[in-house]
Amino acid sequence: MTVLKELEVALGVRSYEICIGTGILADCGGRIANLVKGRQAAVITDSNVGPLHARTVQESLEQQGFAVTVVTIPAGESSKSWQQAEQILTVLLEQKFHRDSCVIALGGGVVGDLAGFVASVYQRGIAFFQIPTSLLAQVDSSVGGKVAVNHALGKNMIGAFYQPRLVLIDLDTLQTLEQRHWQNGLAEVVKYGVIYDAAFFHDLQTHSAAILRRDVAISAEMIARCCQLKAEVVALDETEGGVRAKLNYGHTIGHGLELAGHYQGYLHGEAVAVGMVLAARYAAQSGMCDPAVEAEIKALLQQFQLPVQVDKALALDEIVNGMLLDKKVQDGQLVFILPEAIGHVKIVKGIPQDVIADLLREELHA
Ligand SMILES: NC(=O)c1ccc[n+]([C@@H]2O[C@H](COP(=O)([O-])OP(=O)(O)OC[C@H]3O[C@@H](n4cnc5c(N)ncnc54)[C@H](O)[C@@H]3O)[C@@H](O)[C@H]2O)c1
Repeated sequence: MTVLKELEVALGVRSYEICIGTGILADCGGRIANLVKGRQAAVITDSNVGPLHARTVQESLEQQGFAVTVVTIPAGESSKSWQQAEQILTVLLEQKFHRDSCVIALGGGVVGDLAGFVASVYQRGIAFFQIPTSLLAQVDSSVGGKVAVNHALGKNMIGAFYQPRLVLIDLDTLQTLEQRHWQNGLAEVVKYGVIYDAAFFHDLQTHSAAILRRDVAISAEMIARCCQLKAEVVALDETEGGVRAKLNYGHTIGHGLELAGHYQGYLHGEAVAVGMVLAARYAAQSGMCDPAVEAEIKALLQQFQLPVQVDKALALDEIVNGMLLDKKVQDGQLVFILPEAIGHVKIVKGIPQDVIADLLREELHA
């Protein structure tokens, strides 16, 4: 195992480390064993990641004396469901998991959100570890403790804030990730630059070609920077009472697009990419920022081969309805994260839905 960076998410008694490096899967057992009393672990993974990486994790845990149950769910967003959570809970009960046992998420954001949700409710909460294997999960979803399943009436609507005990990021796992999912994760990477860090945004512009072809050293730096930013924000605002909401930039429209496509069209990051462009356009139209801001964001997303336009096959009313189901809606008014410049965003409440519907209509008829 080579550890390249160790970061802390400072949350008092719930503080934990993010360990970034290579060869980490093969040594994960020792690190996990140090943080739990019991020696019973469930590794939750999916049908793509399991066959590639679960054995390494299982063997490392077994070397530390763990009894390991591997639960493999079908890959894809539709597994982030109440039904899937119930099936995993049934396995834990059948295997007599107790309060000193632990749950380990090995996979992308779907596995992480679902496994974390299961860990948060099993016997009122058991220890939970994140081993994220997609770029999106490594730069975003594995850090910060948001765990959830989707409901037919809205994404991430059933969930909790439940922090992991440790996040283990093994950069080697990215070698097996499909290119489309690499690009999908880059949308959340761009987001950090827009909301907090202009210098990082400019670094991404400078190195965009190397990042797209997954240069190892540059990617490692990029992932570490994102984790650092996320850790800082989460430490300031664990339960999204304020500044953490900025991480939702692009997500209100994004969730509407995902829901309108019944999770079969855009991937999460792709939908957020389109959402970020439209939010920047709205900010420019309402005089909050220079139109060049939208152009810069759009150009970088295009360099990462991400979509920047709304899919014309989607129905306007379904996108709007999807947006209104978002958790960022307060008293029927939309809350948007809008850029003032690259590196600075503002939380703006009370945006009329008609204005956003007009923006989407223009896109759909362009
Ligand atoms: N909790 C949070 O804070 C947060 C933040 C952002 C996104 N999310 C959630 O994350 C989910 C999206 O995450 P995602 O993009 O990782 O989706 P995902 O979990 O579906 O993973 C994407 C695909 O890549 C495959 N995969 C993952 N790692 C792989 C690897 N190393 N090798 C080969 N294949 C691999 C998966 O099997 C899947 O097919 C959404 O549900 C979204 O809502 C949560």
